[in-house]
Amino acid sequence: MYLGIDIGTSGVKILLLDQSHKLVGSASAPLTVTRPEISWSEQDPDDWITAVTQAMDELHQRYPRPLSSVCSIGLSGQMHGAVLIGEDDKPLRPCILWNDGRSEQQCNQLSQIADFKGITGNLVMPGFTAPKLRWVEQNEPDVFSKIHKVLLPKDYVRLWLTGTYGTDLSDASGTLWLNVAQRDWSDTLLTATHLSRQHMPALSEGNAITGQLRSQLAKRWHMSSAMVAGGGGDNAASACGMGVIAPGNGFISLGTSGVVFAPSPSPQPNTPRAVHSFCHAFPDMWHTMGVTLCAADSLSWLANVTNTSVTTMVNTLPNKIERASDVQFLPYLSGERTPHNDADARGAFVGLHRATSSEDLVQAVMEGVGFALTDCLSAITQVDAQHSTKLNSAFVVGGGSSSSQWLEIIAAAMDIDLLVPEQGDYGAALGAARLAICAVTGEHISSVCSQPKVSKVIHPNPSLVEQYQRSYEKFSTIYPSLYHERVPKD
Ligand code: XUL
Repeated sequence: MYLGIDIGTSGVKILLLDQSHKLVGSASAPLTVTRPEISWSEQDPDDWITAVTQAMDELHQRYPRPLSSVCSIGLSGQMHGAVLIGEDDKPLRPCILWNDGRSEQQCNQLSQIADFKGITGNLVMPGFTAPKLRWVEQNEPDVFSKIHKVLLPKDYVRLWLTGTYGTDLSDASGTLWLNVAQRDWSDTLLTATHLSRQHMPALSEGNAITGQLRSQLAKRWHMSSAMVAGGGGDNAASACGMGVIAPGNGFISLGTSGVVFAPSPSPQPNTPRAVHSFCHAFPDMWHTMGVTLCAADSLSWLANVTNTSVTTMVNTLPNKIERASDVQFLPYLSGERTPHNDADARGAFVGLHRATSSEDLVQAVMEGVGFALTDCLSAITQVDAQHSTKLNSAFVVGGGSSSSQWLEIIAAAMDIDLLVPEQGDYGAALGAARLAICAVTGEHISSVCSQPKVSKVIHPNPSLVEQYQRSYEKFSTIYPSLYHERVPKD
């Protein structure tokens, strides 16, 4: 038996797989985000431990026998978060999350100090970990001076599970301290932020063993000695869950963030368009990724401010979307990464009129996210003259993919076939469990990370494609007209 544990932004999800890699059961527990200031986004790392404990206790209650024979555990989690721990392994402050935009100024400083872009193949963006550390150094020097280790969210959970400091290369790629091409920490970049290898967890591939479950926890859930594998950042782990492990395949994630992900046989940076160029979660493979910060989160925001639920809102839409909305929405509620790299970008509704209804706003939000994903696809598609990533179809994962209307909108906006997997909600936790399988059995990634059965293919509706081409043109003019289009610092 195997476990996959995903530390998401809105909740923890745990999957239990049997010997033949089939789903036995799952459990989850919710998480909340605090926003003490505009553009800040934080979580208490110990909330992840509480949530994992709650979900594991539930699994133990429902599946005591299978749980007792788990031999390996894989971890996946929200990327980039700065978990700063002291000598006593306790967090020194709340974790600064991936969608926190406070460190814009520090990004400018770091870009001048060292060649982050050249060494990592990525722009210095506020969501990444290194600029957050500089912000802490400048604004909370007491905290900075006490830092013993800098961990990523899933790796704080690893520390609790095993007592070891470790991370995997896909997640480490999002710190901006990794030489992504060489798959190793960069001493130059660590020194530029007044840190060293000693502050970093040990690096491993996602399909390698990093430690063993502590006996105290094993006892609590009546488990014997399970191994804990490296795992992956949530996007690389989702790719393993969807069998997106070779060039030519891709997936779109409609979680709190929105992601367009494609594997590549070598790093393929495209910094002018703020593409993420990272290691995959297993040896000798990399990936490119476009990231929009507020995907399903835009819909949650609308539900929140209109005092309703996402489900109620989505149910007000017709089953089939035939007409493009005449309202435009910019989903930059948390700033934006791909393609603008602008933490100060903000959301907007444009084109409201007296007859605009609440349903129109819901559809406009879904379309705005669709266009932001179209931006991401176009940014990863044309990397440079030599490299291009062509996607004719892509799997969809994440909470937002349960809305058939949203999928129809996205398929037409991006003009690609969307493949809806059975059990779409399990991507990252499934990928984590699969990496754990490979770690203990030595099986090859390609024989474990198969593609899921496709329950439905959403083909783009030609009439909607045509309408959306016009809407996308309009969408593309709004950001530059509201905010000066910033040329990413190159
Ligand atoms: C990826 C990113 C998000 C988080 C959230 O770069 O920031 O997708 O991993 O889950």
